[in-house]
Amino acid sequence: MTGWEGPVLVTGTDTEVGKTVVTATIAAAAQAAGLRVAVVKPGQTGTAGGEPSDVDAVNRLAAPLTGRTLASYPDPLAPLAAARVADLPPLELYTAVDAVRDEVDKHDLVLVEGAGGLLVPMGLRPSGEPWTMADLAVSLGAPAVVVARAGLGTLNHTALTLEALDRRAVPAGVVIGAWPARPELVHWTNLTDLVPNLLGAVPDGAGAMDPGVFRRSAPGWLTPALHGVLDDWRVWAEESG
Ligand SMILES: Nc1ncnc2c1ncn2[C@@H]1O[C@H](COP(=O)(O)OP(=O)(O)OP(=O)(O)O)[C@@H](O)[C@H]1O
Ligand SMILES: [Mg+2]
Repeated sequence: MTGWEGPVLVTGTDTEVGKTVVTATIAAAAQAAGLRVAVVKPGQTGTAGGEPSDVDAVNRLAAPLTGRTLASYPDPLAPLAAARVADLPPLELYTAVDAVRDEVDKHDLVLVEGAGGLLVPMGLRPSGEPWTMADLAVSLGAPAVVVARAGLGTLNHTALTLEALDRRAVPAGVVIGAWPARPELVHWTNLTDLVPNLLGAVPDGAGAMDPGVFRRSAPGWLTPALHGVLDDWRVWAEESG
């Protein structure tokens, strides 16, 4: 199977599930496979907290790559709410579509990291209606990577997100954002249930690795669809367990 190219959305079942770490993992694996990679973050919120932006975090782990943040807002809220609270212009859907297409012209793979989960209000359409990452996927004709938690509750959140994507005919796969170093029964049973849709699993702690080690390890955490070399979940699970 050849890997996904063109625009690929990285969404999640929730905020703080590891979308940024997974974006860096896919970027590193794709670059190791010789692809030109760009990362676009349409709406970055919480910039007043002084933490590095998601694009900066990806760049630290997977540089060098093109990174673009389209709109930044100080409060740690959904992008549309953050725009309203700060009295800043909301991001327009077609501004995001055009920015991603621009990068697609210059790169083999363009990873677009959402904010929070799939149906978070990102900005406004010309009609004044909110748009979500699901709308962006449809407008771009792009597939989506759903980053999911490993523990209790993930099966429901993952199924809801996959169902919403399927309803919109957006092809999708799942990556576990942080696979624990000491998996418990629930992690193993979740892994079994997620495997049919699974495109990768990133070990917990990966985000804190030395970037060189991270880049060398990344292909081993992803299947060929995401430019990795992982082909046997049983071997992988035994090695990481
Ligand atoms: N595999 C991992 N290894 C180490 N830390 C991780 C891993 N996955 C997630 N984390 C940590 O968990 C937190 C949330 O991860 P991350 O920022 O990637 O989430 P996110 O889904 O991108 O959130 P947001 O919705 O804010 O963009 C971060 O502090 C990150 O460093
Ligand atoms: Mg993030």
